[in-house]
Amino acid sequence: MRLAVFGASGQLGQVLPPHFPHAEISLFPSERIDISDLLAVQSAVSAVRPDVVINAAAMTDVDGCEKDPEAAFRANALGPRWLAQEVSRSGALLVQVSTDFVFPGRPEGSYHEWDIAHPVQVYGQSKLAGEEEVRSSGCRHLIVRTAWLYGGFDRGFVLAILRKALAGQSLRVVVDQVGSPSFTHDIAGGIAKLLALGVTGTVHLANHGSVSRFGLAEVILREAGIDVPLEPISSEEISAPALRPADTSLTSFVTSGLGLAMRPWHEALHEFVKEALDHGI
Ligand SMILES: NC(=O)c1ccc[n+]([C@@H]2O[C@H](COP(=O)([O-])OP(=O)(O)OC[C@H]3O[C@@H](n4cnc5c(N)ncnc54)[C@H](OP(=O)(O)O)[C@@H]3O)[C@@H](O)[C@H]2O)c1
Repeated sequence: MRLAVFGASGQLGQVLPPHFPHAEISLFPSERIDISDLLAVQSAVSAVRPDVVINAAAMTDVDGCEKDPEAAFRANALGPRWLAQEVSRSGALLVQVSTDFVFPGRPEGSYHEWDIAHPVQVYGQSKLAGEEEVRSSGCRHLIVRTAWLYGGFDRGFVLAILRKALAGQSLRVVVDQVGSPSFTHDIAGGIAKLLALGVTGTVHLANHGSVSRFGLAEVILREAGIDVPLEPISSEEISAPALRPADTSLTSFVTSGLGLAMRPWHEALHEFVKEALDHGI
């Protein structure tokens, strides 16, 4: 199988290759290809002639999207349009990675694949537009909605908490945002399994269970054995440019139907915190 990965230097893009040991893989990081550039996408797809394209590229800075909607829609909707168009022409399959932020948040969370998307900020709106570009293109596709990604040693919430705590800083973390923290390796492995089974359509893929940002920070500190002051605060106290939904935790009727259970988020977090500390982050 020939596989092309766009957004190859992002948190998820970086960890995809080892999950496809038998594939011939072409990596397209943002420095090489801007997916909103039609000619660049055309030349990449025609040069590689992939059987499968995974689009892990996105503008993921939620507040940045709010401040610059045009940039958000170019990366998150126009890019998927061009990829879907070229994939459709070549008969390949497109894996479009999407987000829990297509949902507005509700007290009980637990959004499944048939819940109605209704994003409340530009990031979610642009990602939903990207999903719709892929669905309406007619290309064979798998849309994977994931959540609260962490993994690798350069960015993300889990690393930020660990680094501040290791530096002895006290922490203030929002308690009114709840989601499903998901380890990039588990998501990459899940995508590989879905592809091997020939699954198409929309699938939710996140580690099992949910927790608030504050609760997650508590577990990170406990796993790392670090004791620094940790204070719960409300989203209002931060007054970020973009609205954050209350609870967008994901559940999946598709993976449960397939017997593809994702492990609980705290098991995956335990593994990552140990790796990060061993790595000397
Ligand atoms: N991070 C999360 O918590 C989270 C939660 C739910 C869903 N997701 C989704 O999961 C996917 C992977 O997220 P991630 O956490 O791996 O994000 P990430 O670490 O921010 O990586 C995204 C990558 O896309 C690149 N990119 C941005 N605009 C691009 C463009 N126009 N053309 C080509 N590349 C572009 C970025 O490059 P630069 O760094 O150079 O901008 C970056 O390398 C995304 O679809 C995201 O929406 C993420």
